[in-house]
Amino acid sequence: MAQLFHRRFGFFFRVGLLGMALLVVGLIILWRALTNYPGGLNEALDQPVPFSHKHHVGDDGIDCRYCHSAVESSAFAGIPPLSTCMTCHSQLYTNQAALAPLVDAFQSGIPLHWQRLYKLPDFVYFNHSIHIAKGVGCTTCHGRIDLMPLTARETPLTMQWCLACHRRPEQYLRPRDEEFNLDWHAQDQLAMGTRLLHDYHIDKRRLADCSLCHR
Ligand code: HEC
Ligand code: HEC
Ligand code: HEC
Ligand code: HEC
Ligand code: HEC
Repeated sequence: MAQLFHRRFGFFFRVGLLGMALLVVGLIILWRALTNYPGGLNEALDQPVPFSHKHHVGDDGIDCRYCHSAVESSAFAGIPPLSTCMTCHSQLYTNQAALAPLVDAFQSGIPLHWQRLYKLPDFVYFNHSIHIAKGVGCTTCHGRIDLMPLTARETPLTMQWCLACHRRPEQYLRPRDEEFNLDWHAQDQLAMGTRLLHDYHIDKRRLADCSLCHR
């Protein structure tokens, strides 16, 4: 009798081990699926010109809208054309080696090809202007870009990431006149966010509808 008990115990022990191993593998697969972004996070890409937001925004204080001028009025923020750069660089730092591709491209009329960091798949609809109209700041979605010598992506743009805010926007909202303040922090985010939710007429119920982002 004692032996039978032993054998059975061994059997259950192995089944238990196998179960644990499967659970671990399952968790690893799940974790990979949840963190599998298209392209690297916090990684700068090879660009035709080593453009620095840190210099232009952080040090020189140029407003986002000087270069991304459509961000408040349209779906796209847009990447600035060379003519925007040349308003300064036809005079400033023209003999710097880093600027050579910029000047060449401007003279030849062949646009620079910037690699994109933030790009949603075609089946997802996104619109900058509505977010800017409703109190979501640039840094909430793009991080401290004014501290980046080379631009890197800071947020994953996964569906879970969008929904984390769409389900509880009060955790992120700020007053509209603070949206371009890169260094902004709330005293009491929840109290202020809840007030802004009301002031900006944000209807939380429709923010998780599938058809909002998949139209
Ligand atoms: C002097 C012009 C200029 C200013 C000012 C500027 N940007 Fe940019 N921005 C660019 C250029 C050029 C690129 C493309 C090269 C790169 O990714 O660094 C870019 C790229 C970006 C990208 C990555 C887009 C993508 O999908 O690749 C984000 C996000 C961005 N800018 C946000 C901002 C924010 C936020 C501000 C204000 C705090 C700002 N920019 C100010 C010129 C500018
Ligand atoms: C409003 C003026 C202004 C505009 C517009 C501007 N720049 Fe600059 N840029 C500067 C200044 C000033 C510097 C010197 C950087 C510094 O030390 O702050 C500079 C420096 C640079 C450099 C040298 C490397 C570095 O960061 O020091 C590159 C490359 C450059 N700019 C690219 C661009 C590109 C690309 C655009 C257009 C998207 C652009 N700039 C638009 C003012 C401007
Ligand atoms: C709610 C999140 C969110 C906010 C707030 C936001 N962005 Fe974006 N941004 C995105 C997403 C998502 C993309 C990719 C869009 C796509 O692929 O269609 C993007 C793309 C960009 C790009 C690449 C060019 C383009 O138009 O696709 C630039 C530049 C940019 N954002 C600048 C800004 C600036 C400047 C601000 C602040 C005024 C800002 N963004 C605020 C989420 C945001
Ligand atoms: C930090 C908060 C935040 C993040 C992150 C965010 N959103 Fe939003 N989104 C909002 C708010 C606030 C509104 C405005 C709701 C309203 O007007 O009632 C909104 C509205 C929208 C709308 C409605 C536009 C319309 O025409 O009515 C779409 C589409 C949308 N977001 C897509 C996205 C997608 C896709 C992502 C992820 C890539 C995203 N959002 C990330 C806060 C956010
Ligand atoms: C706030 C915007 C938003 C809402 C609301 C939303 N989605 Fe998505 N969805 C996205 C984004 C962004 C992606 C792309 C994710 C990526 O590229 O990793 C996506 C991707 C998907 C995919 C492709 C598979 C995947 O995970 O990449 C499916 C299927 C999907 N969504 C179904 C749904 C359904 C069903 C609903 C309603 C319950 C819904 N979505 C609501 C933004 C949204």
